[in-house]
Amino acid sequence: MSSPSGPPAQEPYRRVVLVGFMGSGKTQVGQALARRLGWPFRDFDREIEGRLGLSIPEVFRQHGEELFREMEGQIGSELLRQEQVVLASGGGWPVATGRLEDLPSGTLSVWLRVSAEEAVRRIGSEGSSRPLLAVSDPVARARELLGNRTALYAKARLAVDSEGVMPEDLARHIEDFMHSEGREAASPSIPDA
Ligand code: S3P
Repeated sequence: MSSPSGPPAQEPYRRVVLVGFMGSGKTQVGQALARRLGWPFRDFDREIEGRLGLSIPEVFRQHGEELFREMEGQIGSELLRQEQVVLASGGGWPVATGRLEDLPSGTLSVWLRVSAEEAVRRIGSEGSSRPLLAVSDPVARARELLGNRTALYAKARLAVDSEGVMPEDLARHIEDFMHSEGREAASPSIPDA
């Protein structure tokens, strides 16, 4: 079969990876987006918990952050090989070098922005499930972590503000972006007659 003339169409996105700070809504937005797209949703942390049979705080306590980060990297690479999937990474996953620069082709990375104050407010009573924020002044700690990570999260292809927006609306916005980018790039430009 001959291929149509014109510029090569950009391949459509085949997976989405959500990045952002703890409490930015990666799970809720990811689940809503997965429902819209009819794709499965996978979460890096839940995968680690399932494989080790331990909660994230237990993984930190029993094995330390270093092992956690190693597993996070391995599991991230595995999940990023799947097709037609929505992924929620852990808040620290984009910190290691190259994570958002070396994504497999067909991957849309989306940064859900949130302030340190709002993140801590949202995490609220489940604060103990986030070992890095289980400190006497979680807002100060969150500000410090966010300050170190913002430039890394900003490497994502798309950035959206998660404050004051319902997860369903954010999911719709991301889906629209996936389709509009694909359309623009896929339709060959027709010269004026
Ligand atoms: C972490 C974020 C957490 C979890 C772990 C470390 C981080 O995931 O991976 O507690 O370094 O920001 P969520 O972003 O899903 O809360």
